[in-house]
Amino acid sequence: MSFRNDLFLGRFGLLPRHDDADLLLDEPVARMIGRRVCRHYGKEELTDGQLETLLAAAQSAPAKSDLQQYSIVVTDKAQQRAISDMIGSMPWIADASRFLVFCADMHRGQRIAEMRGKEHVNNTLDTFMNGAVDASLAMMAFITAAGFKGLGTCPVSAVRAHTAAICELLGLPDGVFPVAGLTVGYPTDDGRFTLRLPPSVVVHHGTYDDSNLEDELRAYDARRNKAQPMDPEKQMHKDDFGISDDYGWTENTARRLAKREREEFGGFIRDHGFDLE
Ligand SMILES: Cc1cc2nc3c(=O)[nH]c(=O)nc-3n(C[C@H](O)[C@H](O)[C@H](O)COP(=O)(O)O)c2cc1C
Repeated sequence: MSFRNDLFLGRFGLLPRHDDADLLLDEPVARMIGRRVCRHYGKEELTDGQLETLLAAAQSAPAKSDLQQYSIVVTDKAQQRAISDMIGSMPWIADASRFLVFCADMHRGQRIAEMRGKEHVNNTLDTFMNGAVDASLAMMAFITAAGFKGLGTCPVSAVRAHTAAICELLGLPDGVFPVAGLTVGYPTDDGRFTLRLPPSVVVHHGTYDDSNLEDELRAYDARRNKAQPMDPEKQMHKDDFGISDDYGWTENTARRLAKREREEFGGFIRDHGFDLE
């Protein structure tokens, strides 16, 4: 079995459809396909210089119109511990060497407009989105660079369950909000693949086509349950939905989407500088 087949089997539980892509499968691409989050960290710390290089990789991500509408907060150990305690269920936040918070940032543009005697008239949903996308791309560039160097990372959107407290802790002004936190450190285990949806569901050629979605999902659930059997006790929202013997990614997703999450986030954002028009 080829290295590429192994990698695709790990990622999708499926073999690649084409057999001419080995040329593209060099070490960096293989590392990207093999990426998984890390929730177990050792005591070894990243140096400030290492962090500086990874942050340079993050800032090398493309940014919409070169406006660079994001900020990255590197927390100190006390803030890292406070955020870990606040979230409560993710001890790897405190265990990681560093915890960063990637933020969408409209505030800097507003200051720049003022400095240059202009009116900032783009307090819009589009700017909100551009900041969130810029922050996400920077985070992904950081994740990729860290992965190339054998470091583990885990994004943490749970910071948005505590947006007000995080904004206060990190001194984020109106117009700045956390998109996600990110742990980084030296992994103590290899983690494991989380099987992805098949490319036939996610990648559309020419026009959007989900006509085969139900069959594809049934097969995906079966592949995932075989590769990563789930403890029935860990089924999502079992107090509301009970324990199902037909439980897989699809039911898990449906259950998660059946409960409103972070309902106060929209109100907080509107109260803190974003018009979202
Ligand atoms: C924006 C974003 C937010 C996430 N937030 C959390 C989080 O709060 N806690 C957590 O444990 N994992 C979080 N994750 C990690 C996902 O759960 C993980 O990527 C997913 O389960 C797939 O696993 P893999 O990345 O190892 O393939 C987040 C990932 C992303 C992209």
